[in-house]
Amino acid sequence: MTTQLFEGKEHASLYQKYRLPPPDEVQKLILSYLEAKKQRPFSLAVDVGCGTGQSTRALAPHFEKMVGTDISKAQIEEAKQSSSASNISYCVSPAEELPFEDSSVDLVTAAAAAHWFNIEKFLKEVDRILKPSGCMALYCYQACMEVHYKDCASKLTAIFTECYNSLAIYTSKNTEIVYSEYEAIFNAIPYTDKKRITQMVHKFQMPVADLIGLVKSFSMFQTFLQIDPEAAKKLLQKTEQRFLEVMGVTSNETIVEIWAKHFCVLACKPL
Ligand SMILES: C[S@@+](CC[C@H](N)C(=O)[O-])C[C@H]1O[C@@H](n2cnc3c(N)ncnc32)[C@H](O)[C@@H]1O
Repeated sequence: MTTQLFEGKEHASLYQKYRLPPPDEVQKLILSYLEAKKQRPFSLAVDVGCGTGQSTRALAPHFEKMVGTDISKAQIEEAKQSSSASNISYCVSPAEELPFEDSSVDLVTAAAAAHWFNIEKFLKEVDRILKPSGCMALYCYQACMEVHYKDCASKLTAIFTECYNSLAIYTSKNTEIVYSEYEAIFNAIPYTDKKRITQMVHKFQMPVADLIGLVKSFSMFQTFLQIDPEAAKKLLQKTEQRFLEVMGVTSNETIVEIWAKHFCVLACKPL
């Protein structure tokens, strides 16, 4: 089962360490959409497939109560261990059976997670728990990113793409929904008030070591690791070594700039 990909404790700690909160641009987009539909204060938001809670924590200040849910016990255990505001709680729950009352939720989010759900059942469940005029925001990014450092962007991006492509055989069907920027998910949403924002390029900086860590957290890398641990580790070592050679540096703490393409599906339940 695809969700078993996220069951490992070690995988959950990689999430906690390397996964990033949604960019400010995406957070602003979601909040301004919600504000256009509903008046503050917002009582409850639910972050489904919350993993270790990066997105949950980022959006929590705007809600009286924020609940992160995930099917993986290991991810929820990690989320609970991170320092969290008092309005945040977490629980283990499948996206297709959410533990909330009918018409009780202002916002349902899913960050880099909706493509793992049974989308038909999830959308029905979202419709049940959303208040009238409540919103959903399903967002994600393309994991094949550009890597920039001085004038080496094209070489570094080519190395990253090569590494990413060599993991392609371990991609699950679910991840393929991401390549089309959630088009199928957008089309499945039964509401007329909906929109899909694509190609939002977010630029951020991180050490080469963390970029390698991010790749380690990819589900397809974890599959590779299970099938052939030696080859998987070698791929990362080689990729890091090639980066450093092209950059002309020796430290994997050297900062590179990553350009990642984000996209977001927004929808509002009718009154
Ligand atoms: C790629 S991770 C994203 C985690 C987090 N939202 C983030 O942005 O880092 C996908 C998460 O979805 C969860 N997941 C997958 N299928 C699920 C389902 N049917 N119900 C609830 N959570 C699910 C996984 O356990 C995993 O934590």
